[in-house]
Amino acid sequence: MSVSDNVRESMSSSSWIRRMFEIGLELKKKVGVDNVFDLTLGNPTMEPPPEFDAELKRIVQNPVPGMHRYMENAGYPETRASVAQQLSQDMGVNFSQNDIMMSTGAAAALNCILKTILNRGEEVIIFAPFFAEYTHYVNNHNGCVKILPTDEQFIPDLNKLEAAITKQTKAVIINSPNNPSGAVYDEQTIHDISQILEKKERQLGGELYLISDEPYRKIVYDGTVVPSVFKYYRRTVIANSYSKDLALPGERIGYIAIHPECPHHKDLMDGFVYCNRTLGFVNAPAIMQFVIRNVQGITVSIAEYQRKRDLLYSNLVDMGYFIVKPKGAFYIFPKSPTTNEFDFIEELQKHNVLVVPGTGFGTPGYFRASYCMEDKTLQGSLNGFREVAKIFKLC
Ligand SMILES: Cc1ncc(COP(=O)(O)O)c(C=O)c1O
Repeated sequence: MSVSDNVRESMSSSSWIRRMFEIGLELKKKVGVDNVFDLTLGNPTMEPPPEFDAELKRIVQNPVPGMHRYMENAGYPETRASVAQQLSQDMGVNFSQNDIMMSTGAAAALNCILKTILNRGEEVIIFAPFFAEYTHYVNNHNGCVKILPTDEQFIPDLNKLEAAITKQTKAVIINSPNNPSGAVYDEQTIHDISQILEKKERQLGGELYLISDEPYRKIVYDGTVVPSVFKYYRRTVIANSYSKDLALPGERIGYIAIHPECPHHKDLMDGFVYCNRTLGFVNAPAIMQFVIRNVQGITVSIAEYQRKRDLLYSNLVDMGYFIVKPKGAFYIFPKSPTTNEFDFIEELQKHNVLVVPGTGFGTPGYFRASYCMEDKTLQGSLNGFREVAKIFKLC
């Protein structure tokens, strides 16, 4: 018995993405790397923008004494101030560096937030389909996940949200633009969620947090606007990162931002910083903090992602697949042509195309395909999708 019961159970019930990755490795050995069309990972193949490279080069060529040392666990004040300034522009609320903690990506930000606010057994509401790691993060900090459905456009069912909140509920996590559906919640939805939380807080007398996980905030298409979550509800915290919009997932840089008027603001910030330290992150990577302070507002080419979305979406729709057109992020989440999506996915694998089952995101009967890949991978997958569409009589 080398592994704890908890970890063993969590490992066995989780990570379809990992399993598909392993199937992909086997396939690649068998048929060659260029003949496998792996659409499983949200790991952008796009390189970071030139402004990022230039700033990184500038910093490395002009080292500042002490730049590799430990720092305040919250991060460099100058970086936090720079993030706060950009956020104030984006969100229509005035942030200062005291509202920001730099983190090792959104993943660490979420873990710090959850560890700070959760008492044992308290509930966190999430909406299916969801980023699969949420269940593990909540479990890490002795919370319980309550999964609620969304409608056919993948927007939360607000009546069900209202009915689901109990005295045990501590937080609601939203993720818009959404992984895996690409849905973006509109202003009315954010307003209504906020109203429900406020009403329930009054009724139940507890504290309800809105946690908005926003690593795809800047990756939106067709003029879609991602509304500010800070506008309607003060007990709001966001987890964000530069993994997706600057294509830096390996560099592990992100942040927490808390509403400047959130009740118990100082306690919460102290909690986040304590958790950053004691979860072993200590502080966000120093060089990345130097770089990102000067590339605020810069992103990879969103037009390029929109083109890739259109390529995959329009081809699959023409083949007969049913897809809600994604408004953001870089995934499509089509309906499987069979009720059991595993039959479909197995068939697709015979054509060397890999996608992730919707079950991995709490939504059986669907599958996720990432389009943050090179065009040759997307193009190469189309034949497999077409052949399998014929088998399942989509066209
Ligand atoms: C919805 C969502 N949240 C959080 C993360 C974690 O991102 P990071 O690399 O910033 O830790 C991901 C990564 O794929 C994600 O899709």
